[in-house]
Amino acid sequence: MWFHSFIPKLQVGEDALDTLDRLACPLGPVAALVVGRHAIADGIADRVRKNLQEAGVASVIIQGPPGEPTLAECARGLVEARAASCSSVIAIGGGSVLDMGKCIAGLYYHTGDPGSVVEEALYQSPRDVQALPWIAVPTTAGTGSEATHVSVLSDPDRGLKQSMRCDRWYAQAVLIDPKLYVTAPPHVTAASGMDALTQAIESHVSVGATPVTQALSREATRLLSESLITAYHNGQDLTARRDTAVGSFLAGLALTNARLGLVHGLAHPVGIRYGIPHGRACAILLPHVMRFNLEVARQGYAELAAAIGLTDEGDPRAAESLIDFIEQLNEKMGIPANLRDAGMIPEHITELAAAALPSGSTRANPRSVSQSDAESVLAGLL
Ligand SMILES: [Fe+2]
Repeated sequence: MWFHSFIPKLQVGEDALDTLDRLACPLGPVAALVVGRHAIADGIADRVRKNLQEAGVASVIIQGPPGEPTLAECARGLVEARAASCSSVIAIGGGSVLDMGKCIAGLYYHTGDPGSVVEEALYQSPRDVQALPWIAVPTTAGTGSEATHVSVLSDPDRGLKQSMRCDRWYAQAVLIDPKLYVTAPPHVTAASGMDALTQAIESHVSVGATPVTQALSREATRLLSESLITAYHNGQDLTARRDTAVGSFLAGLALTNARLGLVHGLAHPVGIRYGIPHGRACAILLPHVMRFNLEVARQGYAELAAAIGLTDEGDPRAAESLIDFIEQLNEKMGIPANLRDAGMIPEHITELAAAALPSGSTRANPRSVSQSDAESVLAGLL
């Protein structure tokens, strides 16, 4: 049986931010605005507050996390949202800010001390309790957090990064305004865009893929492969920014329903070990994992190659041409082909491979992965 979840409302367009009140009004009188540093510095938070105020919606600002959200930051946000008796959450920022906003909305009605509530949800699982409605306003095209029911938190005390998920945690609405993306610098555009592209490709061939999710994955792959390099070179190109943003959203919808694969299983331990941003780690790993998957995913990769116009239907080298395309895209955006310069040495491989095996993403990989399989993929990155 297939079961799919989607986002009820999507609003896309230049200056869509000024129509946020249309989405926010039905959600009640007080919104918690979870915003990143840039959204505050660039005046976006003030613009939103004014728009909401004119529509009769009061708002309280909750500062987003400086990096990945931690347990303590989410607990702090929960305290602030409860103190203001919020009726909704609006998260404006990159994936980390959205994850924190989603966590506050998801855990708002969980009874108990906020610190314990967040910890219990992260290490056991979120209770099946109603969530506050929330709106996602992404400002980077990458994680697809706006489309998923997953929140990823870090726990510095334990040195862990952990995800939690709940079917009640999908956003009520997503607002995509291409103008919010133009300040992302090229290296951020490259890394986050490659995260989205990896998610599109992995979800297309994952064991959980269905014809419905594959339609999303294919279109995400097409939009991202055509627009990412333009957004990288010319951040002011609003068409490219819109297409990367919509591609990222579609990839998020695909992955939340179909799951991912070995790239994401390896990207977390690799990213933590070498201090590499998630999207950059995905980009480096992607061609290597695709080669490992070729014997079972050739057809899926060939479909994507045809969807983005790389090859004609029936070309026997179609799957390889997609891998070549990814390697060239990485090179054009200054992303290395291996982890050597990041500090990887053969002695690290056993531990990194072992850390990837329990991941849900690794288990969704189209080709089953043993310890020695993961080790041989990593050996290719030396
Ligand atoms: Fe990712």
